[in-house]
Amino acid sequence: MAVQALSYFGVSVKRPDEWIKFGTDVLGLMAADDGDGANRLRADHRAWRIAANQGKEDDIAFAGFEVADAAALAGMHQHLLGQGIEVTAGNPDLAADRGVIDLISCRDPDGLDIEIFHGAAERFEKPFSSPQGVQGFVMADQGLGHIVLGCNDIAAARRFYVDGLGFRLSDVIRMEIPSAGPLELEFYHCNPRHHTLALVPVRTGKRLRHFMLQANSMDDVGFAFDRVLAAGAPVAATLGRHTNDHMISFYAQTPAGFEVEFGYGARTVDDDTWHVALHHKPSTWGHKRGA
Ligand SMILES: [Fe+2]
Repeated sequence: MAVQALSYFGVSVKRPDEWIKFGTDVLGLMAADDGDGANRLRADHRAWRIAANQGKEDDIAFAGFEVADAAALAGMHQHLLGQGIEVTAGNPDLAADRGVIDLISCRDPDGLDIEIFHGAAERFEKPFSSPQGVQGFVMADQGLGHIVLGCNDIAAARRFYVDGLGFRLSDVIRMEIPSAGPLELEFYHCNPRHHTLALVPVRTGKRLRHFMLQANSMDDVGFAFDRVLAAGAPVAATLGRHTNDHMISFYAQTPAGFEVEFGYGARTVDDDTWHVALHHKPSTWGHKRGA
């Protein structure tokens, strides 16, 4: 029993207008129709992918994971109850707000609202068109991208995301942080995307370390980098290539403080042939911080 994709997430930010403007003007996402929710962004044929709601946290507020249909949702509901996870079902108002046929919700061990749904709203009748000319993002069966979460209790997070939601380990990056000692990052997949979720075994400030969007073209990474510089947004990490998913990307700080990774060219995972690996560096080159 496993979710198939991260399909949407919401952030709670002090200044939603500014955050959405960063999304459209810098990241090249498309504002959703008002009928699909205020302060929401599109990245493909789905009605929306990212919501920015008013709040003081400047952090992730909820994440929506998708299953195939009503039967799969019922199966997931029973599975989560069997894992001792408290589940809320039968919330038509929330389902209507998210634009999905049906959903159930629960909380991860660090208090993040997790929604599992089927039947997302699609808008093929109004094709995605980036206001900055981005030639599309890698989504479809790989979901929207990935999120990296800091955890107070990595064992509890593992039980929730692996035993509960059905995530499979892709690999581990074991690093030595000069001031903090050894740190082990865990990368998980639920579809061909190398990682949809990464868990960091410490919680420093925000829950969301970064989210990642993958462009269809390397030029779009360069254009996005230029837009970050033109907007005066802080570059959090320079262009680089990751050791594990092989993605070429850069990181920028969003107006809410957490970062966005904007990348191209990641390799994918095939469960039939994949071997869990151990890495000792996050990047083969680049991704310099404080540069
Ligand atoms: Fe990332």
